[in-house]
Amino acid sequence: MVPTLTWTPEGVRFIDQTKLPLEESYVLATTYDQVADAITTMVVRGAPAIGVSAAYGVVLGALKTKAATAQEFAPEFERICARLAATRPTAVNLFWAIDRMKRLFAKLAGSGVPLVEIQQKLLAEANTIYDQDIASCRAMGAFGADLMPDEGGVLTHCNAGALASCGYGMALGVIRSAVERGKHLHVFVDETRPFLQGSRLTAWELMADSIPTTVICDNMAASLMRKGRIQGVVVGADRIAANGDTANKIGTYNVAILAREHGIPFYVAAPWSTIDLATATGDAIPIEERPAREVTHYAGKQVTPDGVGISNPAFDVTPARYITAIITERGVMRAPYTESLKEMELVS
Ligand code: MRU
Repeated sequence: MVPTLTWTPEGVRFIDQTKLPLEESYVLATTYDQVADAITTMVVRGAPAIGVSAAYGVVLGALKTKAATAQEFAPEFERICARLAATRPTAVNLFWAIDRMKRLFAKLAGSGVPLVEIQQKLLAEANTIYDQDIASCRAMGAFGADLMPDEGGVLTHCNAGALASCGYGMALGVIRSAVERGKHLHVFVDETRPFLQGSRLTAWELMADSIPTTVICDNMAASLMRKGRIQGVVVGADRIAANGDTANKIGTYNVAILAREHGIPFYVAAPWSTIDLATATGDAIPIEERPAREVTHYAGKQVTPDGVGISNPAFDVTPARYITAIITERGVMRAPYTESLKEMELVS
């Protein structure tokens, strides 16, 4: 499997997700500012992947400082974290990872640990976040595989795969794990306009694993469901509120409503770092508005008249009542989510 991002002595190496599937090229970010740009421009994307990237961005900022002591570095550290946090607003994993790095820095700086040692400890922390991300994908996969049908069609939207994480994936981890257990799944992949994470990235990953895959346009799911070709839906998440409302790629909400109408189970697979118990409901989740050009242009060609109004929210919120179960590395939760999420918080 091609690694989404790798720490190297020179910096963070990203597979360039804006170029896939036609070109497998890499971008090396040697400064925290370049990591922030890679997140904003979606060279790297997907909630867990941007969290881990930001953690390595913090490491790069710390390694490149000219400050001599932790006290001297502290205001610069705050600016580095603020720059990385300002890249994308919706996926809570970004803020979760930065907060984790901040807590470690505060603890070490407060106990008088020398800056060179702090730099190494920050790197070790980012590496731990990376390793934990892969482990949680594996665990999610194992829990979620039980929920997949023994055979049939499974629909996914966007890319909640290895490319959105450090490896194996969330929704695709569930599918991979089910296939590894011998289940005969055929994956239907929404193309996911406007950025095409489904047709470009999810299809590319599944093809590499030889999992039977069909790409459909976003407006085709209802018809396939009505024809009985889809037995389950599994998607990822960018932020899950305390009541289970789930922000994910724009169009997820449509799919959830369609699944309910057709009596098809709708599953969300996400690591615990995506759960935001401090946000009461989906109404409070900030939704990123992306540049109009992603809608006005398709494959570099303008497809809308000059001057037309454009709306490009990158995410929508699926109300908890449409979600059959939420799969995390800690286990599977069902409604009422306000209670099941709180109970699962105590499990580690
Ligand atoms: O804008 P993106 O590509 O970063 O959005 C990613 C998603 O919304 C994915 O569906 C994904 O589930 C989040 S990764 C768990």
